[in-house]
Amino acid sequence: MPEASDYERYLHTAELLALQKPAAERVHRDELLFQVVHQSSELWLKLAAFETAAAAVRLRDGDLAGAAPLLQRALLGLRLITEQLEMLEHIAPRDYHLLRSALGQGSGFDSPGFRALQEVARDVGAAFLAHLQLHALPLAALYAEPERAPEAYRVAELLTDWDQQLGLWRARHLNVVERLIGGAAVGTQGTPIALLRELGAQRAFPALWAARDELARAMSAQRPPQPQRAHPPR
Ligand code: HEM
Repeated sequence: MPEASDYERYLHTAELLALQKPAAERVHRDELLFQVVHQSSELWLKLAAFETAAAAVRLRDGDLAGAAPLLQRALLGLRLITEQLEMLEHIAPRDYHLLRSALGQGSGFDSPGFRALQEVARDVGAAFLAHLQLHALPLAALYAEPERAPEAYRVAELLTDWDQQLGLWRARHLNVVERLIGGAAVGTQGTPIALLRELGAQRAFPALWAARDELARAMSAQRPPQPQRAHPPR
């Protein structure tokens, strides 16, 4: 057997490429596609959680400019896992039911990458709000006057992008689920798909969305009153 190259040794390609079921053990040929999408999602989630956790540390140190590029990396990781969901649409619904028997009770609720991401989201959100509190800068004031603290505003918008991207992943994932098993099915752990729909409305950083409501109220209070129409225009 030829000796492994530096490329193979450094990247552990032998171990990595042995992590998918060999053809003889697959209940359906599309198991390879299914495993590759899930395993690579776990890797991107690992990186996204790592960079988000590092951004939280920078925020706690008051280094907002240092936190921003790390949040951008995490955001790109979330974008990539959203895009690759498209690959799952290449599985026919009938074939998904055939390969599903191999999954046992396997469920996305047990995804270590997604769990880690939810944990670091709490951490980075708390770190940012603590920074604002330390500088006596309420979120509503930051959104009313972004030029008052441009670095803090940039981080607020990056965290909003982060939250938005997670919501887009959830919407895309729900779409794939409904496309493959329908909207009335239950998951491998008995979860109704309706619950996934409800999870889609969850926000990791609710304060950032509430700040927009507050700004909208404050700005409309400043506008001269508009004449009210009895009916919407046709
Ligand atoms: C064929 C494709 C997929 C199907 C049919 C599917 C199905 C489901 C279903 C039915 C649930 C509800 C929980 C349950 O009972 O299992 C769920 C949740 C979940 N799945 Fe998937 N899934 C697919 C692909 C993926 C991929 C590629 C990932 C990437 C990591 C993923 C991650 C998750 C996560 C994190 C949850 C929890 C959702 C949340 O907390 O909002 N799923 N999935």
